[in-house]
Amino acid sequence: MFKAILIDKQDDGQRVGVETLDEDRLPEGDVTVRVACSTLNYKDALAITGKGPVVRRFPMVPGIDLAGTVEHSDSDEFRPGDAVLLNGWGVGETHWGGLAELARLEGRWLIPHPSDFNFQQSMAIGTAGYTAMLSVMMLERHGVTPEQGEVLVTGASGGVGSYAVALLARLGYEVAASTGRREEAGYLQALGAQTIIDREELSAPGRPLGKERWAGAIDSVGSHTLANVLATTRYGGTVAACGLAQGMDLPSSVAPFILRGVTLAGIESVMRPRADRVEAWRRLGELLTPEHLDAITQTITLDEVIEKADDLLAGRVRGRLVVDLAK
Ligand SMILES: NC(=O)c1ccc[n+]([C@@H]2O[C@H](COP(=O)([O-])OP(=O)(O)OC[C@H]3O[C@@H](n4cnc5c(N)ncnc54)[C@H](OP(=O)(O)O)[C@@H]3O)[C@@H](O)[C@H]2O)c1
Repeated sequence: MFKAILIDKQDDGQRVGVETLDEDRLPEGDVTVRVACSTLNYKDALAITGKGPVVRRFPMVPGIDLAGTVEHSDSDEFRPGDAVLLNGWGVGETHWGGLAELARLEGRWLIPHPSDFNFQQSMAIGTAGYTAMLSVMMLERHGVTPEQGEVLVTGASGGVGSYAVALLARLGYEVAASTGRREEAGYLQALGAQTIIDREELSAPGRPLGKERWAGAIDSVGSHTLANVLATTRYGGTVAACGLAQGMDLPSSVAPFILRGVTLAGIESVMRPRADRVEAWRRLGELLTPEHLDAITQTITLDEVIEKADDLLAGRVRGRLVVDLAK
């Protein structure tokens, strides 16, 4: 038997609770993992609250991230006792995920657990930190360097935003952090932000082009915010778009692209090839310190996850939530 969060569909909506399940109910897969830690991501909160169409199959165990130890393996790549990590691959959407004491998965979705981190730390990073790293790598690939000037991070006190600020600052970029929570200015400065911007400056409908300011940007917000970021990105700059916390729309024009040569680069973490994942986690190991992880993270139990999902979607969670399955 194992404990898990289970989402089930009812005639009048969905039902979610912490349940004790028989191992026979685990889905197909060649590797069974004893989950040590998972996390609560934005997507998990959408799945748990039913506020977004994340779950594709019911009943579903949510949790797009997990870290733990292999208990059983029919895969050539992993043996019992191996420490492993999973981010994405549709887990928690189409296949039972990490918010459970046990998970049965495809070995090809797993990577060896990064040796720079323990389970708590890798889940403190989770998909949010890994996506922030992919976004930073995208700016680097497009030639955005610290010498070029300010780089903007939106949704800065969220999970992706917090890591984007910390990683960019560590790499020597001058970071401007946009947040709706002025009270988190000290937190963002401690992570390395040099300038704090009120998100209202960016979230209302704006003009197709504005004064050039950003050498690059990482946007986890979308909608008018992304449109305004594009409109104020400097000639030849790059904006990495990875989220939709304000909205999925993009009420913009082609002006930033055809008049300033701005690049809008999409970030997708879920189906990313394994080599990119391993490289992103290598860079995370190089750049993040235990102090970053402690500053960004709070730890909760499986029983606390459901109530925290509402807080996360309401923007009341700072940084990241680690779910410790041993607690
Ligand atoms: N592309 C990918 O593969 C990928 C991977 C991971 C996450 N994501 C997406 O990235 C986004 C952020 O994820 P997360 O885990 O960092 O979530 P999160 O911790 O909830 O952070 C989102 C942040 O966005 C800001 N925000 C919230 N509502 C807003 C609004 N109405 N207008 C403007 N800003 C708002 C808030 O920051 P402030 O309070 O500081 O303003 C909030 O903390 C989500 O949309 C998620 O789905 C995408």
